[in-house]
Amino acid sequence: MSIHINWDSKYLLGIEQIDDQHRYFANLINRLSDEMNQSDDENYKVGLFAELAAYAKFHFISEENFMLKARYPELQAHRRHHLQLIDALSSKLGLVQVEGTQKRIDDMLSFLRDWFLTHTAGEDRRFAEYEDKVRHWQDVSGG
Ligand SMILES: [Fe+2]
Repeated sequence: MSIHINWDSKYLLGIEQIDDQHRYFANLINRLSDEMNQSDDENYKVGLFAELAAYAKFHFISEENFMLKARYPELQAHRRHHLQLIDALSSKLGLVQVEGTQKRIDDMLSFLRDWFLTHTAGEDRRFAEYEDKVRHWQDVSGG
């Protein structure tokens, strides 16, 4: 089973750097899902998951830095969401490594896709709305 994310403008936050990373992340999930379906080399599949996890970590740090710079009041809660995903990914990766079944791989990929879509359209959008308000306030106050 190939897991695919259909990119949609509803996932755009209006923050170019974060939008670029989200698009890259979605493409990466799609591409690696295809690769995993076409290969029966376990080591290669574990390597692909490592690539996904590394990009997720990079993206989270980058997004959190944006929030730090913006003094986002909900940063700590947001960071907890990111940590939860990293934890869930590593325990699911453990299952993939132990069992190595296609079912575990599919579970992990669909979990990742669902998480990505709800997080981007939910928690990340809350931050974008905050950013928007701050920018608007700076415009009207001339600051
Ligand atoms: Fe996020």
